[in-house]
Amino acid sequence: MAGFLWMRLAILVFVAAAALHPQRSLASDEDPLQDFCVKDTTQKLHVNGFPCKDPAQVQASYFASDSLKKPGNASNALGVAVTPANVLTFGGLNTQGVSAARIGFAPHGINPPHVHPRAPEILFLAKGMLLVGFVTSTPDNKLFAQTINAGDLFIFPRGLVHFQLNVGYGAAVAFCAFNSQNPGTSQVVKALFASTPPIDDAVLEKALQLNAADVQRLRSLISKT
Ligand SMILES: *[C@@H]1O[C@H](CO)[C@@H](O)[C@H](O)[C@H]1NC(C)=O
Repeated sequence: MAGFLWMRLAILVFVAAAALHPQRSLASDEDPLQDFCVKDTTQKLHVNGFPCKDPAQVQASYFASDSLKKPGNASNALGVAVTPANVLTFGGLNTQGVSAARIGFAPHGINPPHVHPRAPEILFLAKGMLLVGFVTSTPDNKLFAQTINAGDLFIFPRGLVHFQLNVGYGAAVAFCAFNSQNPGTSQVVKALFASTPPIDDAVLEKALQLNAADVQRLRSLISKT
């Protein structure tokens, strides 16, 4: 009986602690348990993150990456090129809880509404002018949007739908940082209209109050972006 009570008390304390400190467990990646854990791509282990290379084999170059040096190719329908430097492309980031990206915008280019489920994003605009914004969670769905210029920073809170539109005269270039080695990206429109396999038409028709022809039209438009 006493054991049962203790167990109930322990569960109560655990639930209360989780409710009082939601950010502590959710705000960023797990803390590392060693100086570094450079990603070892040879091991086929399924762990949270990636296994470590033997530290004796690790060289300085594993902590360097030139992946953001070159502009991506923004000659596409959206006029945007996102180049990530996350743990998938830069093994030295494994367990460090940070990553970066470069976003190149053609004139009038758009980085369409999307979400990073695992990290906030801080954007530094190196060149050009952007209209940036994010929308708070439901029920408010409040838009915070702002025009930013070269040299400005903007923070997109974790997990909220956000976008960037090039409203300047020429191209624009931004660099972004995340407090996750792998923030993830979920494109809102692609998730709805370009999933594999497709979401049942009945779901989209009812949820968005569209007819079958509208859904087909949107599917074909989205598949081209
Ligand atoms: C950029 O992409 C476009 C469209 O795919 C292609 O025609 C063009 O050659 C590419 N430019 C470079 C520099 O790769």
